[in-house]
Amino acid sequence: MKKSTFLAVALGVCASLPSFSFRPPTMGWSSWNTFALNINEDVILGQAEAMVKTGLAKAGYKYINIDDGYFLPHDKETKLLGVREDRFPHGMRYVADEIHKLGLKAGIYSDAGANACGGSKDIGYYGYEVEDNILFFDTWDYDFVKVDYCGGRQLNLDEKEQYTKIIQAIRDNVKKKDVVFNICRWAYPGTWVSDWADSWRTTGDIYCAWPSVKAIIKENLYLSAYTHDGHYNDMDMLEIGRTLSQDEEITHMAVWCILSSPLLIGCDMSQIPEFSLNLLKNKELIAINQDVLGIGAPVVQRNGEVYVFAKDLKKVRGKERAVCVTNLSDEEQTIEVSVENIGYEGNISVRDIVNHKLVSASVGGKFKVTVPAHGSQVFVTKGALRCEPKKYEAEASWMKCYQEISGDKTATYMPSDKSSGGAIVTNLGHNKENYMEWKQVYSKNGGDYEMTISYITGEERPLAISVNGETPRIEKLKGPNWESVVTKTVRIKLNKGMNTIRLGEQDTWAPDIDCIQLSAI
Ligand code: GAL
Repeated sequence: MKKSTFLAVALGVCASLPSFSFRPPTMGWSSWNTFALNINEDVILGQAEAMVKTGLAKAGYKYINIDDGYFLPHDKETKLLGVREDRFPHGMRYVADEIHKLGLKAGIYSDAGANACGGSKDIGYYGYEVEDNILFFDTWDYDFVKVDYCGGRQLNLDEKEQYTKIIQAIRDNVKKKDVVFNICRWAYPGTWVSDWADSWRTTGDIYCAWPSVKAIIKENLYLSAYTHDGHYNDMDMLEIGRTLSQDEEITHMAVWCILSSPLLIGCDMSQIPEFSLNLLKNKELIAINQDVLGIGAPVVQRNGEVYVFAKDLKKVRGKERAVCVTNLSDEEQTIEVSVENIGYEGNISVRDIVNHKLVSASVGGKFKVTVPAHGSQVFVTKGALRCEPKKYEAEASWMKCYQEISGDKTATYMPSDKSSGGAIVTNLGHNKENYMEWKQVYSKNGGDYEMTISYITGEERPLAISVNGETPRIEKLKGPNWESVVTKTVRIKLNKGMNTIRLGEQDTWAPDIDCIQLSAI
């Protein structure tokens, strides 16, 4: 919730530090997936002990999060939230103290409205924003809160207004610092969220079956731009250690790690199968998730239902990258991964971090990867030479007004077979703020470039193009119909190093955008 004082140095990382104070994705356990409403003091403290005994705590998992089911309605006079004494006979402070004694952190649950998703009435923050925050963090000494939205929806509250009111109440009234705040609104709420929350759910609830894991990955393919500066898309709690196949568990862990989702274990940690335990403790996967840059990984290559994600590790445009090849199809697939697509030129080394082996030490051009049905291969790559990216997909851009809640016509991505990466950006423009932006357009030497814009429009539409905040210039773009991707090439000037390219239109709707391609003149 607050930008933390937990600096990258505390991670023992000596590479370039980000310019913000950094907090990695939350790692821990949550009661919901296995225990649902059937929680009590013994269950929670038993799991805390198991987290230590299994070595999961040592591997980095710290938070023991109590979900729905511990509360009773607020007392109207004292304004105090009730607790189910049949389940928590020693009270909630005692539970947090016991968790802390094990060297762990404690998490609690509430709703932005009045009622909880599990049916409890008048237990939520609504009308008790100050009182409940003081109770959770100062009186009971919890360190994390997940705030659900069933009650908020029943009261028809405005998400931004109510969540920011609750978080402002923490900032203004709570003594404890470094409280972690998780929003559970089951959809990306809007770009305001990263100024307020540490993480936010992007989808409905996960359940323990492959179709659910696959659907959540698909809903998160193009949201990486919104995970940044140590604020994260939350893909929901892990179903590892329950009934998924080993390949499915690898994909679940790998994609959650490379997209920097919080890692909240959801199984019963006292009886976790060895394969799952080792996967959850995989140091190299955890390092990708907790990496000091705090960023997500865009899709850099797609071959049918096989997706390749890649992101920098430790240093922006440094030598080391994480690459995950995920097969969402029901058949084994072999693809060729392009070294340029994953960000390099020349030779690289490729290390498989799930099977702990060097796959190849001097790959030039392309390398073959075979991935089982529902499986993933995860690599750490190293190479001295990074390439200057030529193509920027629209669906990997950051859209200022992107949100999945209000139904307003704001810029969004949409799957499209005709597009180069599998999706286009639509509903761009009509408002100065409704733009899309690539914030990290890299130029080795700076200078003049040709920028080819691939777009779709069935009528003449203007597009405002702005590089590095300069006054936008307007291009009038024509197209034959709403089916075909056509191109227009314009000249732009880039600075040496990182640049920002923004496309939008303040008065009317802009064309739909597929991608931009750059070539130095
Ligand atoms: C849902 C939430 C779940 C769980 C449940 C509790 O809305 O997405 O993760 O917290 O409520 O009732």
